[in-house]
Amino acid sequence: MAPIHIPTKQQALVLPEKQGKFVVREVDVPKPGPGEVLVRAEAVALNPVDWIVQATGMFFTQYPAILGWEAAGTIVQLGEGVASVVVGDKVLHPGVIGDGNKLSTFKQYNATPADLVAKIPANLSVDQAASIPLALDTAALGLYARPGERGGASLSPAPWEAGGRGKYRGQPFVVLGGASSVGQYAIQLARLSGFSPIIATASLKNADYLKSLGATHVIDRYLPRDSAVAAVRDITKEPIFVAYDTISTEDTQQIGYEVLTSGGTLVNVTLNRFIPKEKMTPDKRITDIFGSPFIPDRRELAVGLYRHITSLFSSGELKPNHVEVLPGGLAGIPAGLDKLQKGEISAVKLIVRPTETA
Ligand SMILES: NC(=O)c1ccc[n+]([C@@H]2O[C@H](COP(=O)([O-])OP(=O)(O)OC[C@H]3O[C@@H](n4cnc5c(N)ncnc54)[C@H](OP(=O)(O)O)[C@@H]3O)[C@@H](O)[C@H]2O)c1
Repeated sequence: MAPIHIPTKQQALVLPEKQGKFVVREVDVPKPGPGEVLVRAEAVALNPVDWIVQATGMFFTQYPAILGWEAAGTIVQLGEGVASVVVGDKVLHPGVIGDGNKLSTFKQYNATPADLVAKIPANLSVDQAASIPLALDTAALGLYARPGERGGASLSPAPWEAGGRGKYRGQPFVVLGGASSVGQYAIQLARLSGFSPIIATASLKNADYLKSLGATHVIDRYLPRDSAVAAVRDITKEPIFVAYDTISTEDTQQIGYEVLTSGGTLVNVTLNRFIPKEKMTPDKRITDIFGSPFIPDRRELAVGLYRHITSLFSSGELKPNHVEVLPGGLAGIPAGLDKLQKGEISAVKLIVRPTETA
């Protein structure tokens, strides 16, 4: 293979100050450290948290900041000791914000740990690959990570581990927000774990799609709270030990909490709490997942997942979200975040191609 030119500077989408306006700026291209690879980003995905950070200033104290939680592209350089991949491999990888902009992905080159990259299977586009990491990590860690701080429901083994397939056969599972990016993977992982029935709330226009992923029942997400709870109870009388709230509004959290049986866990994607004190009972747990594979207490589980991502998608056992590619490269991100903030997105992940940045 001809040597790959690696520039010293790259374009990044920068948030200069708290609640400021995004600008495209030149920043240094990082060098991969030991155990890391340098990836030229060909696609990055947008996530609700990106607009939340920009609009509210939450979660972040260091500025100028670069946001972005996931990317896919081509490995252009290996750090010392990396033997699992080679230059030229097409990979997807997670990012994280708040580490001095090292691992955030709204840029053209990312240095990232080699044990948290997965080769892109031949049946996926680079755009689809970029949509996978954060939503899959959040669904997977929410279900299978140990509780810990911002941990998960502690289901074990995970379906990519020995003995994990079908482990929870015949147990019901509820996902609030089945059409969200996280929800689509929660449904698919629950299916691999054997849960049944898998009951999702969503707009009914997404019902057939969610059933193709493994949902057995789709309840209209616009039903009043009591009707949604009654609809779940009509579907199953079995105790519900796990519900996953991928939306975390007052309604979704209360529905999820109410349908749980004693000893059950509600996985929550935010730190929001809406259960009135008089309805809280000590036998039901709410766990607020943080879907980052970089947290030490879930790193091993996440590395195991990344080892299996290629085969899970190439076999069709997992299917990626639908994607919509926005024009303008990194400069197209603010318009996409605006759509996410306005709730104009349904069952689709927004993508930009950093190489198209003017
Ligand atoms: N804690 C973490 O580490 C972590 C990681 C990733 C995401 N998150 C958070 O998780 C949430 C979901 O993220 P995402 O990227 O998966 O979102 P997303 O794909 O942008 O979610 C859009 C979907 O949400 C659904 N939805 C909206 N309100 C709903 C409601 N009241 N009931 C049921 N469904 C509803 C819509 O479904 P329909 O189209 O069917 O109407 C829409 O398709 C966000 O709040 C995000 O910030 C947290």
